[in-house]
Amino acid sequence: MQNAEPSLKRYQELVEYLKTCDHSYYGEAQPILSDREYDRLYLELQTLERAHPEWITSDSPTQRVGGKPLDQFQSLPHSTPMMSLENTYSKTEVSEFLVRTHKALGHSEISFIVEPKIDGVAVSLRYENGFLLQGLTRGDGERGDDVTQNLKTIRTLPLKLRDPIPLLEVRGEVYFPRKAFESLNEMRQLEGEDPFANPRNAAAGSLKQLDPRIVAQRPLAIVLYSPGKIEGISCKNQKEWLHLLQEQGFSIPEKTWFCSSEKELLDSIDELDQIRTQFPYDTDGAVIKINEWPIRETLGSTAKAPRWAIAYKYASEQAISQLHSITFQVGRTGTITPVAELTPTLLAGSTVSRATLHNFDEIKRKGIMQGDFVTIEKAGEVIPAVIGVVLEKRTGLEQTIIPPTYCPACQSLLQWEGLFLKCTSSTCVAQLKRKLLHFAHRNAMDIDGLGESLVEQLVNQKLVRDFSDLYQLTEENLTQLERMGKKSALNLLSAIEKSKSREFWRLLFGLGILHLGVESARTLVIHFKTIDRLLHATTENLLQIHEIGEVMAASIVTYFQNPENRERIEKLRALGLNIGSESDNSGATTSTQFSGMTFVITGTLSRPRESIADQIRLAGGKVSGSVSKKTSYLIAGDSAGSKLTEAQKLGIKILTEEEFQKLAIQI
Ligand code: IVH
Repeated sequence: MQNAEPSLKRYQELVEYLKTCDHSYYGEAQPILSDREYDRLYLELQTLERAHPEWITSDSPTQRVGGKPLDQFQSLPHSTPMMSLENTYSKTEVSEFLVRTHKALGHSEISFIVEPKIDGVAVSLRYENGFLLQGLTRGDGERGDDVTQNLKTIRTLPLKLRDPIPLLEVRGEVYFPRKAFESLNEMRQLEGEDPFANPRNAAAGSLKQLDPRIVAQRPLAIVLYSPGKIEGISCKNQKEWLHLLQEQGFSIPEKTWFCSSEKELLDSIDELDQIRTQFPYDTDGAVIKINEWPIRETLGSTAKAPRWAIAYKYASEQAISQLHSITFQVGRTGTITPVAELTPTLLAGSTVSRATLHNFDEIKRKGIMQGDFVTIEKAGEVIPAVIGVVLEKRTGLEQTIIPPTYCPACQSLLQWEGLFLKCTSSTCVAQLKRKLLHFAHRNAMDIDGLGESLVEQLVNQKLVRDFSDLYQLTEENLTQLERMGKKSALNLLSAIEKSKSREFWRLLFGLGILHLGVESARTLVIHFKTIDRLLHATTENLLQIHEIGEVMAASIVTYFQNPENRERIEKLRALGLNIGSESDNSGATTSTQFSGMTFVITGTLSRPRESIADQIRLAGGKVSGSVSKKTSYLIAGDSAGSKLTEAQKLGIKILTEEEFQKLAIQI
């Protein structure tokens, strides 16, 4: 794509092209552009939208993260109830379902569609004239929560359909892709947050987030399969419907089976069982549906479920194991996590000997005692979870699990913070080890070779007490460690040296500021560029940035106000690490936001003028005291006087405070 004069045509081209890129990247996992090139075009799109807000179409990729955090979700009614399915657990029950339906219909020529039963979060979407207007969770089936803002962040969900269908309601399942799930949990733990128990909880937790900016950072995906209310198109059967959905840009189940006999049906259930582990989502069963819609009408539904469909649930892989002891893990931010140590047990093809118990509340809720026999399950088929206690196997010798009083690593007194028990010592070696691992992580400073066993030795031998000590290690220090020859030592020293010049956002993320993820670190660098500017940033400055919410802003300010952290940063600066430069733009190729623009602010506004001016300056713009031909925008509050008249005379664009905020948000 060539850069052209700003024109509506160029704008539309960009929207379409970036939509195609999103589809290839998120829908097919086949990127057609490098991240850098994508960022460049996205920035061009944002710049065009800033200059021409009247061009913005609701399906522009920028519109996926537009909304402000909500106080709470609005509960809205479903146009037709969202029902559940009758569950069956044996082939006999499936055969009984066939007999029942044949009997009810009085003839035997029925075709079925078998679909995977996706283990996600059910939602209903409403498109009017082709545009996505509303997305509700299932709720109680009659009413659901309005999660439209969050659903819009799902890149594979079309904001606009191919055709302007008058009314199309479509239902399906939001899921958290299995591949991304493990790294989400890894990142959550690195960021000091609790991991999700399984991909479904991760999807549900993400959809319940009130701040769509957080949701936008999660790679949620969606599969659609059911109709709600429809007007203006006709469809006679499920096969046709799935085809229509695909044509309109929706993702549909990975594979479906058209069956016209009992044998075909039962075979497809088995076939699905064989291949379902290859799907990007968890499936807990097969859904068997009558294909023909008029027949569905005839059969109708019971109070809870349709008579024209059933779910066949696959047995989940469970095993029983003995919980012989509990260990308490100390996280990077001092959170103590209880871990169940189990007798090694074979489960779904691998041996399980540990399972996280998340927190002490969970132990209480499940009534787990030390020595108990417990049912374990591969939740989300990846991570083992303790489901519950096998009470019949209790001998009376089991012991209550008591939360520790002292940190298992540094023996300092632990403190409760809500549900979590924490070690608040600033010299705890367990925390230091996790902090160093976080610092060296591939998403942070990417220090190749600095793994768990090495960190363990470096800390235990008191060679490293802080990040800066890593940069003062010598060949001699390293070769005295276990399994560390001269060659490995030199490689490690070179990897550490190389990390000094890594991008500033990596260092910022590596510092381990609570709640600060990779994306937020990049955003901070785009806006503040250098550590010095960040050290002086106020909560107010930070809140001007669309992606930074209150919790994160507070955490950043607290971190930089702490003298120990300031000293830590000064040491890293002295060692020559990259602490940002005025030209750092964190991967974005063009200078950002308001560069090249001059603003004049006048009238009474909701916050001090200087705060708006700071926001503009932070984004690269200039603020002037008087209106001239060079003024790009006048921000006019209530009772604006002569400056407003002057701007009107010169034909300068005038923005209300709200319009200005919108502009800043789009950037
Ligand atoms: S059809 C009228 N098809 O399973 C009910 N449901 O346990 C229409 N689900 O509420 C539902 N995959 O949330 C249908 N391929 C699929 C499904 C599916 C998952 C969920 C759905 C439903 C629940 C019932």
